Amino acid sequence: MKTLIISSSLNPKSNSYLLCKAIEAELSKKDTEVTFLDLREYDIQPSYKEKTADMHNIEEIIRDHDNYVIGMAVHCYSLNDNLKALIDTSFPGEKHKLFGIACTAGGQKSYLATQHLVQIMINEFRMIPLPRIVYGIESDFDEEGPQNEHIKQRVVLFAEEFFDIGKKLI
Ligand SMILES: Cc1cc2nc3c(=O)[nH]c(=O)nc-3n(C[C@H](O)[C@H](O)[C@H](O)COP(=O)(O)O)c2cc1C
Repeated sequence: MKTLIISSSLNPKSNSYLLCKAIEAELSKKDTEVTFLDLREYDIQPSYKEKTADMHNIEEIIRDHDNYVIGMAVHCYSLNDNLKALIDTSFPGEKHKLFGIACTAGGQKSYLATQHLVQIMINEFRMIPLPRIVYGIESDFDEEGPQNEHIKQRVVLFAEEFFDIGKKLI
């Protein structure tokens, strides 16, 4: 099985990146080949701008994987701009493939923003959401990663469920 982790926030001090890294550490203990894509290292342009070489490369990388963990930041109670640009321009339709969401926000009350991403992935690409999301806020993190015990446990559970369901779907 090939799993792609897409960390989409462009924040130089991104917490969703740290959350994705914690998930990567758990998934790497399992029988899946994990690739980590940090979108801060790629040039993604919005719709109607010329498509960059990075955008073409990302499409190929996405196509080449069986399932996805998507790191999102909450912006204005929805998904972050860079993730939306990726989906709008460079996300190939990957029907019936599993995806899970690792989300960070400024406050506890924005967790339903993740449902905007779920709606897009289901309606646009017919993809299958993992029915567990990992959600953290700024006080759950230090520069090393998530420090809140509850989040750490959820990361373990998320990785277990992601792996078990992912395996059944390929
Ligand atoms: C443009 C912008 C809009 C934001 N909107 C929200 C919001 O609606 N709700 C919220 O809880 N946090 C909001 N935040 C805070 C971010 O979600 C928070 O900084 C989080 O850590 C982002 O993830 P990241 O660290 O991976 O970038 C916003 C931040 C930015 C930059």
